[in-house]
Amino acid sequence: MDRPCPPVALLALILLCLLHGEHAAAVTTGTADGSELWGYVQVRPKANLFWWYYKSPQRVSSPAKAWPTILWLQGGPGASGVGLGNFLEVGPLDVNLKPRSSTWLQKADLIFVDNPVGVGYSYVDDPSALVTTDWQAATDATELLKSLATQIPTLQQGSPLFVVAESYGGKYAATLGVSVVRAIRSGDLKLTLGGVALGDSWISPEDFTLSYTPLLLDVSRLDDNAGDDASRKAAKVKEQIAAGQFAASQDSWIALLDLIDTKSASVDMYNFLLDSGMDPVSADLPASSSSSSPSPSLSNTQLMKYSTYLGSQESESGSNTIEGIMNGVIKEKLKIIPKNLKWQELSDPVYNALVNDFMKPRIAEVDELLSYGVNVTVYNGQLDVICSTTGAEAWVKKLKWDGLKNFLKLPRQPLHCGSSKVTKAFLRSHKNLHFYWILGAGHFVPVDQPCIALSMISSITQSPAS
Ligand SMILES: *[C@@H]1O[C@H](CO)[C@@H](O)[C@H](O)[C@H]1NC(C)=O
Repeated sequence: MDRPCPPVALLALILLCLLHGEHAAAVTTGTADGSELWGYVQVRPKANLFWWYYKSPQRVSSPAKAWPTILWLQGGPGASGVGLGNFLEVGPLDVNLKPRSSTWLQKADLIFVDNPVGVGYSYVDDPSALVTTDWQAATDATELLKSLATQIPTLQQGSPLFVVAESYGGKYAATLGVSVVRAIRSGDLKLTLGGVALGDSWISPEDFTLSYTPLLLDVSRLDDNAGDDASRKAAKVKEQIAAGQFAASQDSWIALLDLIDTKSASVDMYNFLLDSGMDPVSADLPASSSSSSPSPSLSNTQLMKYSTYLGSQESESGSNTIEGIMNGVIKEKLKIIPKNLKWQELSDPVYNALVNDFMKPRIAEVDELLSYGVNVTVYNGQLDVICSTTGAEAWVKKLKWDGLKNFLKLPRQPLHCGSSKVTKAFLRSHKNLHFYWILGAGHFVPVDQPCIALSMISSITQSPAS
């Protein structure tokens, strides 16, 4: 039976709140005023997820327009949302712990989670507890939400939850969205799901793989000779996916990325206007290999990983590093992180454990969400290669959703930001599917185009913020 936790919002002390029966064990603490809460939820034996909730200082709510909550899911797989999404993308503070003027906290409450288990501050007591499929990750994250729905007062009061993902996080978001709807319908989870947003999301590896060559040819980053070779490699990825050889198809995909790297003079797969490692998130990461030029073994095998060589540039002098704060001041502030745990921006064991799922599409899960009437938003940066806009358009066209035909016929609405007359994005909406084309952004949309990203998230969540 439920035994309610003591109220946590006003406690600065660590509460050990052990729920019996099917409920997971949880450790929760926070700031004295309740504006931040964080903790661990044991979602399975030996498997612990870390989460961090921020309540917005701008919070207003009316019966007609509820204040929303965003759950941010980072990619990788294996990248830390609590570190990267929070301090490098949309959280209230940047890596130097200065206020971020474009923080999404102005429009919604925010929850960051180190998902799946083994990422960032989350941990497993045994490597066998790591997830090997997106669906296992979704099941764990659903357990987390069952706990948070009873622990976070604003969620209890009906704040609609929007699952917002980036990159590989989109595969978690699609599966988690479906899992959440099922749990709500069966009465296992008391929560309002506001919608699911898929930012530059790895929903269909095949469609993205097939998009690289034409895109890079069009923007002069490959020539025809390299293009022929790259097309053959992409065709092999497609064949292997069709044959269900998912791990092998990942190897072939990596071989394609290596070829592109060589023939394009190392185009940045997160932004084709740049060279490798120059995009803002990658450039902010520490050079953990501490070599100034990427060694061959660190080449494109790490591309989805936001990792190591991607941050091979020296950080500006006087600037914090994300690894520095996450293993220093932030860890000290949070108090409950195990002493021997070393935070890393990306967990290799988590990445490797998903080898048989990495190349599997999640289009069917997006279709299931649409069939439930859940608002699904796809947003994509124009300059991204790894999860390109043309690849996203290709998988959207594969949806079985009955609104698709009409959706595709509709004109797009140009969007602007602030007082600028410059076109910043296009939006097409039909029923519960929404697609934002974000101009001038690569893979990391909120970093590259913070103004339009903020107004987009405000629309998606129907935020009552002024
Ligand atoms: C979906 O979003 C629209 C606004 O874009 C809103 O009017 C509608 O109520 C939402 N539907 C659901 C089921 O949340």
